[in-house]
Order: sequence, then C-alpha cells, then structure tokens
Amino acid sequence: MALVTTKEMFEKAYNGGYAIGAFNVNNMEIVQGITEAAGELKSPVILQVSKGARAYANHTYLVKLVEAAVAENPDIPIALHLDHGDSFELCKSCIDGGFTSVMIDASSKPFEENIALTKQVVEYAHAHGAVVEAELGTLAGVEDEVSVEAGHESYTRPEEVEEFVDRTGCDSLAIAIGTSHGAYKFTAAQCTRNEKGILVPPPLRFDVLKGCIEKLPGFPIVLHGSSSVPQEFVKIINENGGKMPDAIGIPEDQLREAAKLAVCKINIDSDIRLAMTAVIRQYFNEHPDHFDPRQYLKPARQAVKDMVAHKIVNVLGSDGKA
Ligand code: G3H
Ligand code: 13P
Ligand code: ZN
Repeated sequence: MALVTTKEMFEKAYNGGYAIGAFNVNNMEIVQGITEAAGELKSPVILQVSKGARAYANHTYLVKLVEAAVAENPDIPIALHLDHGDSFELCKSCIDGGFTSVMIDASSKPFEENIALTKQVVEYAHAHGAVVEAELGTLAGVEDEVSVEAGHESYTRPEEVEEFVDRTGCDSLAIAIGTSHGAYKFTAAQCTRNEKGILVPPPLRFDVLKGCIEKLPGFPIVLHGSSSVPQEFVKIINENGGKMPDAIGIPEDQLREAAKLAVCKINIDSDIRLAMTAVIRQYFNEHPDHFDPRQYLKPARQAVKDMVAHKIVNVLGSDGKA
C-alpha cells in the first residue's frame, strides 16, 4: 500500500467510534517503533513531521524513512502529515515533497485571517491530492516557537466552527478543549489532589467538544496535546539523574471517551520523548561503560513500540482496523 490521505481513515474511525494515533517522527528509531507496533496490531497510523523535525532531520531523510516503513508494513494504511504548518509556503513544500496531509495552524491569528490562510492551503492541497487539518482555539503549552502559558489558552467556540469549515473547506478541525502541548500540561494550581495526594488534572471540556459535534455532524475532530505523560516514565527519568518535577498529562480514559465521539485523530509526541529518555537514562546508569548507540537506541525503540501499542489498544481503539 502506498502512503494514503486521512480521508478514508477518518470516515471509518468516525463511524467505528475509535481514533487514529498521530505520532511525531524525528528519526529512524521513532519511525520504526511506531510502525512496528501499528503493523503488528493491524492499525492505521499517521506519522507527523513538525517544522522542527524537518529542520533537525531534513525533509528528504524523513520522507525516505516513512517510505521505508510503508514498504515494511504493506498491510496498514499510513499517512504522512505536516504538524503545525505555519505558512502557505511550508505546506506547499510538504505537499510537493510527498506528504499526503498538512496542518495549517493559523489558530493564533484573528478569525478572518485564519480563514483566508486555511482556504489558500486547502485550494492548493486539494488540487494536489492532499488533505488539510486546520485549527480553531488555542492550546496551552509549547509548540515549536509558540508558547502559551497555562491559563492563557482559549477554548474553541462551537458557534464559530460551522462557518469556519464551510468557508475554508478544510478536511478536519483541531479544537481546544483543555489539552495542552508538552510534558507540563497543568500547573498545580489548576489541579486538585486525590486521597493519595496525587495531582488530578482538570477534566477535558466535553461540553465544548459536544457543542462542536452538534454544529459539525459527521466531521472529523482532532485533539492536539494528548500525551498522558505516564508517571512510570517520569519516575524512571527522575531516578536516573533527570529533573522533571510535576510533569503531568491528559488521563487516558478521557481520551478514550473522546475517541468514541467525533475525535478521529489524537496527537502524541511528548510520550515518545519520555519513553526514549527514560530508557536511555536508565541504560546509561546501568551500563556506564557502554558507548555503542545501538546498545541504548535498541531498548529506546522498543519502549516507543510498547508505548504506541498500549495507546493503540487502550486509548485509540484502532487495533484491527487496518
Ligand atoms: O506540537 C508540537 C509537537 O510536539 C512537535 O514538537 O516542534 O519540538 O518538533 P517540535
Ligand atoms: P503532546 O505534547 O501532548 O505529545 O502533543 C503533541 C502534539 O499535539 C503534536 O502536534
Ligand atoms: Zn500539536
């Protein structure tokens, strides 16, 4: 199977009450870990590349790695997506260079400017066989050069989504319902504590999600900032020389609920970073004499695979849907 767009994936996911995982890729081990898990579980998957990933690894290297993953996993649909495209030129360059899907993220711009830029990207993408994700609302957290402090995010306004989708022609819409980028999604002040004293994040705004679904029946919704920041990784990192106090993510059961509704794409990057960092820190502590990158990148790749397999089965529900 060649690279596919997300169109059919989303139609099936919407009707089947599950979501497709969109995992950020930056190097070979990450591409392999994700696609080995998806391949074994017969799950469709989206590999996404940020502007920063492109600057780090180079467009051609990333496309070739993804093409290799497609060749190695011929039975599952794989889409190659630009994450957080910030200009028409960047989106065009990715479409021209083999991506099947792009995100134009003009969510920090005023409504009319967001519409104008999104529409321009949609026209180019559709003329070249690619699909477009757009965004309305602002998430907290850090993504590339944009940083939004906790408390300064703004939820998507359901009363705007229909006009936005009608006027832009976008294929999916990322909305802000309380998820957030990075490994520190909430401040302690935003959380409550359970009986064991452990921080409990504020619940996602399902009322906002349902408001958007009412206005856009049948239309695929995307959630960014959906890492769960597994505390077992944070613990390993902190016990092996790392310093990540108060790292906290989105509870997986809430993402599972969202996946049963119109949420068809769930973005995960930070959990990949945490899985690899935990394993590599622990490896270096346990094997101070080792210096062959294959020795520590092999378990790091396995950790990515295990984490992605867990998400596919327990969070996304996309296993067996290829
Ligand atoms: O939402 C942002 C993604 O986690 C990508 O992060 O821009 O550091 O590659 P990055
Ligand atoms: P996380 O930081 O929660 O992994 O979010 C990733 C993301 O939204 C990529 O676009
Ligand atoms: Zn994002």
